Amino acid sequence: MGKEELIHYCINNSQYINSRIDAVDFISEVLGLSKTELILMDNISNESTEKVKKVLAEFNTGKPVAKILNSVCFYGYNFYVNENVLTPRQDSEWIVFIADKIIRLGQKFEKDTIYKNIKVLDMCCGSGCLGLSIKKINEQINLTVADISEKALDVAKINSINLNVSAEFVQTDMFEKIEGKFNIIVSNPPYIRTGDIESLEIQVKNYDPLIALDGKEDGLYFYKLIANNVGKHLEDDGVLICEFGYDQAIKIKELFDKKFKDVKIYKDSGGNDRVVICKQLKGE
Ligand SMILES: C[S@@+](CC[C@H](N)C(=O)[O-])C[C@H]1O[C@@H](n2cnc3c(N)ncnc32)[C@H](O)[C@@H]1O
Repeated sequence: MGKEELIHYCINNSQYINSRIDAVDFISEVLGLSKTELILMDNISNESTEKVKKVLAEFNTGKPVAKILNSVCFYGYNFYVNENVLTPRQDSEWIVFIADKIIRLGQKFEKDTIYKNIKVLDMCCGSGCLGLSIKKINEQINLTVADISEKALDVAKINSINLNVSAEFVQTDMFEKIEGKFNIIVSNPPYIRTGDIESLEIQVKNYDPLIALDGKEDGLYFYKLIANNVGKHLEDDGVLICEFGYDQAIKIKELFDKKFKDVKIYKDSGGNDRVVICKQLKGE
């Protein structure tokens, strides 16, 4: 089948694919190609065409491509995923980018400091996408990844083997079993209000685990825990980098301003406030 024919096949045979852009996104994700690679191809092999059609049939039930293929590309690396972990989102790549910048360039907020023996904690690690990507590009760091879910940690362990990256794995209810201090703590905790979960799209509410989504009544439960507990786990010059929901910036700023200095909010590529960076108050 020609490429154009396959694009039209996808548009005509899926309620979730409504445009050429959607179809190109879908086909490139299924075939593990960049959009540019797909656009430059004239024809698609029979084997690839059959794969796209087969995945499309399952995709039409509402199952996301990543959960069908058990694989997703995050920060340029392939991560294994299954029903026990949140599918890593592109918006979360900002956290890796910012942590990498802080580590490699020694850039802090207003002055340059080069960290030595850098310790990084990925709290609420899920698949391990944040911490393992940071370590993949900064092999010298000491990485700890933590999650309450044993099954999520099993996935993170598979990814650490696949990516050939070492880490310490801690099963813990937030900071309960975390020992010592870190230079950088990253976290993408659950942040959906319990009452909003039912109205999420089927691809999320049916295929991402509830424990990865539920931020309790106001969606801020885990940020309150982080704000109250993270201080004792950050080095004097430590930095906390967290993702939050698109409508939570004001509350997040209020919460973290009470505990940190230099609380800064950054937007994602869609223009939504998405990431908070906080610097430890000296002497905490
Ligand atoms: C939104 S997912 C983030 C996963 C991954 N960091 C990412 O960005 O794709 C949140 C994770 O928090 C974990 N979690 C939920 N409650 C927790 C708790 N009390 N302590 C530690 N981890 C928790 C869930 O198991 C889930 O893996």
